[in-house]
Amino acid sequence: MRRGRRGAIKGLVAGGLGLWLYSFYEPVLRIELVRHRIDLDLGLEILFVTDTHLHGVPGREDSVIKLVEDLSREVDLTILGGDMYDEFSESLESFSSLLDAISGEAIMVLGNHEHWAADRYPLEETIEMAESRGVTVLRNGVVEYKGLHIGGVDWYGDNPQLARRYYRDVGSVDILVSHTPDILGDAEVDARLVLAGHTHGGQILGPLGLITNSRHGYVSGFYRRGEALMYVSRGAGEIIPFRLLTPREVTLLSV
Ligand SMILES: [Fe+2]
Repeated sequence: MRRGRRGAIKGLVAGGLGLWLYSFYEPVLRIELVRHRIDLDLGLEILFVTDTHLHGVPGREDSVIKLVEDLSREVDLTILGGDMYDEFSESLESFSSLLDAISGEAIMVLGNHEHWAADRYPLEETIEMAESRGVTVLRNGVVEYKGLHIGGVDWYGDNPQLARRYYRDVGSVDILVSHTPDILGDAEVDARLVLAGHTHGGQILGPLGLITNSRHGYVSGFYRRGEALMYVSRGAGEIIPFRLLTPREVTLLSV
């Protein structure tokens, strides 16, 4: 009896240790191509890539860049959702490679980490770098593409008042891109589709929805508020490479 209990404890400890070790490998080894067909009648194929947190780690970052290179050729529009690099990035070389890998139309919004890294990498230079590769950076602005209005909200520092002010400059659109999903709870969003990242799916046991940096409790997947349907990506990277059953993702959306 006692030996059985000891065996069970040993098993639990070994299992826990195994999961802990695996958590360091998941962000290195796993990246999922997530596909969703959403019945919005917008007639667009979108590649959505967010939170790559490109630090200049060989191999791991190459896989994301290669996916973008291959997939951006197949879609109408590539959307970068922010936190493409962060204040711990040794250089913007990988970000530059990511921009080079994009074919066709692309837009980008800025995340909290581009803002937080601005002392090291001024935002004007980031925007210039993106726009020189044909990637439009939307800071509370709108572009028209194939007759659709696509808006982008800048990072607003978790300040709901600022969110509403920023969103007023965007207004009613077909697709709204915001780094943080909290825009859906912070402003009266009038959009058919909202695309967001920021949460990394919680990074640990994402399907249980236990961990999030969203003030409104968004973690990953689909959410609806009124007419607006929001998709929150788990992101394609993170600052600390530790994930458990919450793989990195790049997303293909048919809308
Ligand atoms: Fe992020």
